Amino acid sequence: TRRVAILLSGGGSNMVALARSMTGDHPARPVLVMANSADAGGLEKAAAMGIETGFVDHRPFAGDRGAFEEALHERLSQAAPDILCLAGFMRVLTEGFVARWQGRMLNIHPSLLPKYRGLHTHARALEAGDAEHGCTVHEVTPALDDGPILGQARVPVQPGDTPEGLAARVLEMEHRLYPAVLRRFAAGRREPVLLP
Ligand code: GAR
Repeated sequence: TRRVAILLSGGGSNMVALARSMTGDHPARPVLVMANSADAGGLEKAAAMGIETGFVDHRPFAGDRGAFEEALHERLSQAAPDILCLAGFMRVLTEGFVARWQGRMLNIHPSLLPKYRGLHTHARALEAGDAEHGCTVHEVTPALDDGPILGQARVPVQPGDTPEGLAARVLEMEHRLYPAVLRRFAAGRREPVLLP
């Protein structure tokens, strides 16, 4: 069984979808959920699901990303994960940290990469007049929101869509896409999952 650690910064709905999926004949199990702040909502949800939780507050490390990541790595390593899933983890990771988890770290991003790396993806897709938007799961490499694509889900843009409304529909697809990709990835398969 592959051991999975999940990193988050917010409410953790993707974490919940991932954790729920890892039962039965799934090749992986969640061993740790970590946040970069004690008050990330996802931590309580993970604890309620019986998953070990931890956090390393990034704020005392202001300006020293390397030291923050060293503490994060230390805490993560105690759980000996095989796979790291970023699920709404809003800190940019340095090349050094990424290198240590090379080929074992996944991220979900709310756009059809390579379009709209970074933030405010829904508003940017609407501003551009795109007919479709969506989400991507990719392997993490040192460049932001880059790296081999392991899955994508498309979401049609509707007339009169707001960034919030579009984000909510994309998030529903994230909850389907990420578990599907993780299941394949944990079984050693890397061909992309395409939804719907
Ligand atoms: C998700 O939409 C995820 O794709 C996005 O944050 C949200 C987290 O929601 N991630 C990023 O923007 C990464 N740069 P959640 O906490 O409910 O899973």
